[in-house]
Amino acid sequence: MADLRTEMCGVKFKNPVCVSSNDFGETLHMAKRVVKQGIGGLVSKTVHKIDGVHRWPRPYFYSLRRFGKELRDTWICSEMFSHIPYEKWRDEIAPRIRDLCKENDVVFIPSISGIGTQAETWAELCVDMEKLGADIIELDTGGPHATFGAEAKHKEVGAPLALDPEKAYEVTKACVEAVKTPIMFKMTPQCVRMAEVALAIEKAGGHAISANNAFYGTWIDHETGTFYGGPFSCGALIGRAWQPFSLAKVLEITATVKIPCSGIGGIFTWDDVVRYIMAGCPTVQLCSVIYSRGVDVLREIIDGLNEFMDRKGYKTIKDMLGICVPRFMYLRDFPRENPMQHPSPIIPKFDLDKCNRCGTCAKLCPYGALTVDEDEGPQINDEYCMGCGWCLGNCPKQAVTMIKRDTGEVVWNGYGEIKRWVEESK
Ligand SMILES: Cc1cc2nc3c(=O)[nH]c(=O)nc-3n(C[C@H](O)[C@H](O)[C@H](O)COP(=O)(O)O)c2cc1C
Repeated sequence: MADLRTEMCGVKFKNPVCVSSNDFGETLHMAKRVVKQGIGGLVSKTVHKIDGVHRWPRPYFYSLRRFGKELRDTWICSEMFSHIPYEKWRDEIAPRIRDLCKENDVVFIPSISGIGTQAETWAELCVDMEKLGADIIELDTGGPHATFGAEAKHKEVGAPLALDPEKAYEVTKACVEAVKTPIMFKMTPQCVRMAEVALAIEKAGGHAISANNAFYGTWIDHETGTFYGGPFSCGALIGRAWQPFSLAKVLEITATVKIPCSGIGGIFTWDDVVRYIMAGCPTVQLCSVIYSRGVDVLREIIDGLNEFMDRKGYKTIKDMLGICVPRFMYLRDFPRENPMQHPSPIIPKFDLDKCNRCGTCAKLCPYGALTVDEDEGPQINDEYCMGCGWCLGNCPKQAVTMIKRDTGEVVWNGYGEIKRWVEESK
């Protein structure tokens, strides 16, 4: 059995799989359901004093499953911050969730939101959370619900703070100075200057970053000619498909700062967890998968992670942690031809024993460069082939490799990175 223990800003986790800020960290009943699955950490639903208690427009979950199979895990969610009065949660509910976490060796991470960019309102809540016995405090700075849901007088809540390095610095600094408990700043995916905000958080003494919060969206019911669910923009959960985006944002952070990052976004399977660990995240947080697949998925993911590590010989999380970060680079620095040659020096090679002549490659080739001969297999038209690799990725039989036309050297077999076949970038 691999050792799944991990550590983030001095806090020890029994495994990296945590539940992010959502309903499952709001009440004892909900917390029990996920703690039972063996998770390493639990983030509470965001508590706050903004606008008094938040009111959610029931019903507030709008699954897009009926609009097509590729949308089965996509939904719009107009749930806002916690609807439980702050003092009631702090004094009556949270102590019981904390005790549940302590009894089960689960790291307890209350999530808070101050009022917009008013740093003292964040610090004040941090003091409360420290008294409560938080292991880490997460600052929920940029959920779309906050941006679009708060009253006009609190319109600075949410993205305006998380998008601005100076404001992020001020709020983080105020929190760090107010308590001894580690402070974790949660990023919004709306942030374009992610690396700059991360640097500001680090400079302010922030102990960790979590990334990312949900994106926002809306949907139209074409049959009725009205909106589907609420007629507004709010949180959009994009399912596993938004992982590439969130992972790229996480890498901007892990490649820039030394403080740890808890990875969030489209984590649906154990290998998704591995991806974030390899991208430098000592812990990850899961959210919409629990709604889409049920709470049992958490245990399945932890078991899957264990089996993977055993299979690959990774003894500890550290063995995998950040192994891809040093190789992360800007596309502009990757060696390329100058100028691009024609015909393409890179072409597909088809393994005719594996190829079943299904014609998928010819149908999907965006350049119209392939035809399939029943006897000879796929044929390349040199005039049109761009060496793009689309046929490799879409072949159902994995019969394609990308090779150098002149030497036959394989530059991509569909696993891992493409070879740097151009000498140097010019
Ligand atoms: C029902 C629901 C409630 C959420 N509530 C909060 C919240 O109170 N605070 C917060 O920081 N993020 C909240 N989020 C965002 C998630 O914690 C997470 O960042 C986001 O859903 C991306 O992760 P995912 O792709 O695994 O769903 C909520 C998400 C959902 C689906």
